[in-house]
Amino acid sequence: MRIRTAVFPVAGLGTRFLPATKAIPKEMLTVGDKPLIQHAVEEAKAAGIERFIFITSQGKTAIEDHFDSNPLLERTLAERGNTKELEKVKSSQLSPGDAIFIRQQQPLGLGHAVWCTRHLVGNEPFALLLADDMIIGGAPCTAQMISAYEKLGRGNYTAVMDVEPLHVSRYGILDIESDDGWIVKAKHVIEKPAPHRSPSCTAIVGRYILDPMTFESINIHNLGICKEIQLTDAFYPMIQAGIPFYGVRFAGQRYDCGTKEGWLEANIANAFERNDLREKLLTTLKNLKIRE
Ligand code: G1P
Repeated sequence: MRIRTAVFPVAGLGTRFLPATKAIPKEMLTVGDKPLIQHAVEEAKAAGIERFIFITSQGKTAIEDHFDSNPLLERTLAERGNTKELEKVKSSQLSPGDAIFIRQQQPLGLGHAVWCTRHLVGNEPFALLLADDMIIGGAPCTAQMISAYEKLGRGNYTAVMDVEPLHVSRYGILDIESDDGWIVKAKHVIEKPAPHRSPSCTAIVGRYILDPMTFESINIHNLGICKEIQLTDAFYPMIQAGIPFYGVRFAGQRYDCGTKEGWLEANIANAFERNDLREKLLTTLKNLKIRE
C-alpha cells in the first residue's frame, strides 16, 4: 500500500531549549532560514506524502500560521516586486485540505500523540517524523524508509543508528535478530534502557513507517518509562503477532535539534551544504580559530 500520510508530533514543551522555547514552539527554531518543522515537511513531500497531520498543543499556533497563507505579507512583497521572497513565502504553504491539525490535550508521551491520529490516518501504513531529529546529507530519509518498506512489505520501520553505549538511555534500542548492514531486524525494542541492561547500541532515530495495527497496539492505559505512553512499547506485541520490526540504517547524519549542541551542529552542517553560505561559514570559523 502506498504511503501517503505523514504524522508530525509537535506538542512537546521544548524544555531542553529554554528560554528560546518559552513563547515559540521548538519546532519553529530555524536551521538555516527554515523552521525545523518545514525541513521535516519538505522531506515528507520529497517522499511523495500528500496528507500532513500535526499533533499540536496549546501555544503552537505559529506552526499552523507558518503553513497557512499570509495575504498581507504576500500582497506587500508582490507590490514591492520582491519575487524571490514571495516565492519562499508561498512555497511554505500547504495546499488547501492537505494539512490537518489536532491537539494532544495532555503531555502523555509520543505513543499517546500518535494514538490521537487514529481516526484521521485510518487503516493504512503511514510515516511518522520527529522534527527535532534533522537528517542532513543522503537522500531524504523518509524516501529511504519508504524504499525499505517497498522492498520488504508489511512491518514497522524506524531509522536506526549506532550510539555510544553510555547514551542508550536516551533512545529506543533494538534487540537484534539479524543485521545485513542496511536492515536490522529486531526481536524486541526497549525504550530508554539503562546502559547495563541495553540489548544493543542500535538506536531509533525519529523517522518511522508504521503499520496501522500500531493504533490498537498502543496501550493508552499503560505508562512506560518516564511515566509516558511510549510508542516503542507498542512494537513488541506486534512482533509477537507476526508484524516484523525493521531498523533501517539510513544514509545521512542525524542531528538532535532538541538540544542546543545538536541544533548548533545542524546549522553549521546546513550552512556547509549551501553554496550561498559555505564560504562565509568557513571564513568565520577560520577567524574564530585564529582568535582562539
Ligand atoms: C523518541 C523515541 C525514542 C527515539 C527518539 C529519537 O524519544 O521515544 O525511541 O529513540 O525519539 O529521537 P524522545 O527523544 O522523544 O525522548
